[in-house]
Amino acid sequence: MLKGKDLIDPKDLSLEEYEEIFKLAEDMMENREKYSEIAKGKILATLFFEPSTRTRLSFESAMLRLGGGVLGFSEAASSSAAKGESLGDTIKVVSAYGDIIAMRHPKEGSAYLASKFSKYPVINAGDGGHQHPTQTLTDLLTIKRKLGRLTNLRIGICGDLKFGRTVHSLIKALARYEGNSFVMISPKELDIPMYIKEELDRIGNVEYIETTSLEEHIEDLDILYMTRIQRERFADKEEYERLKDSYILTVDKLENAKEDMIILHPLPRVNEIDYHVDEDKRAAYFDQAEYGIYARMALIALILGLVSDNGAKCEKSNKEVIVNKEVKCNNKNCITNAETQPFKRIYKIEGEEFYRCGYCDKAIL
Ligand code: CP
Repeated sequence: MLKGKDLIDPKDLSLEEYEEIFKLAEDMMENREKYSEIAKGKILATLFFEPSTRTRLSFESAMLRLGGGVLGFSEAASSSAAKGESLGDTIKVVSAYGDIIAMRHPKEGSAYLASKFSKYPVINAGDGGHQHPTQTLTDLLTIKRKLGRLTNLRIGICGDLKFGRTVHSLIKALARYEGNSFVMISPKELDIPMYIKEELDRIGNVEYIETTSLEEHIEDLDILYMTRIQRERFADKEEYERLKDSYILTVDKLENAKEDMIILHPLPRVNEIDYHVDEDKRAAYFDQAEYGIYARMALIALILGLVSDNGAKCEKSNKEVIVNKEVKCNNKNCITNAETQPFKRIYKIEGEEFYRCGYCDKAIL
């Protein structure tokens, strides 16, 4: 049941709910006219404190194609955050102006914080280097359409696995489908965060390897998911300069890849996929960007209750949540270290001995 739900993390959706979104998105692709007025009178607020092309514009396009309206801002500098307003106060105010909020913010855990202050559903459009669940909807819809399944896939994920929020969300979602395995390809400095590996271990039976070599593994892959090195997240600019050209996919590197492998990329690309690769039939990244509109149309329609819901079951939480203990999170990129209001949410997962920050998911030591 998606009506009224926030989408902060890919695990907020059950696999049944994913299926419901994809079914509706595909119907919307085929029958655009049928849905062209269902959101009449509804407003989507797009609050983008960080740059975006695809996510913001596809959210806005999605709402306009459903017959609704949009308002918002595309950079922190044109909001009152520039005058020192807290995120909590901004959200309290803006949630009176719209019916649903899509927010991007540079701090990890900011989307969860926003959902606690908002009267209306909040969709995480990217919170720092943490999660990007609607990119995952886009990615899964693309995989389903191109390969016809979301199970029994060997997925190579290459580039900046440390800061790449699309990667974190994609792994969290695909690991829940049967038979999927991962080849995580990155420089050692940019390997996948511990909390994602812990998530895979918790799910159990998810095979993954970590490597620095794309060439050694490309022949085994059903999907190659390329990502850019995330310049804006580096504290040390020299380190970025050293790592920025770690992986560049060229036509000759594809020689040993399967004929039916697909190449995905959340975009924007910098130089990690050579332009000649665009002509290869395996390059699916521009279709991927287009499917994002339909994934987001379906998501908005279901969250706002504009279409009949098939009653898909919600995800059962395995978290023991504590809300009366102040968070002292040692992740400097966490929203709890950027704002001064009291943050009171930590949680413990069944089987773990330690608590995690309820905003950014990092272990509290
Ligand atoms: N994929 C993605 O999030 O792109 P934007 O940063 O352009 O929104």
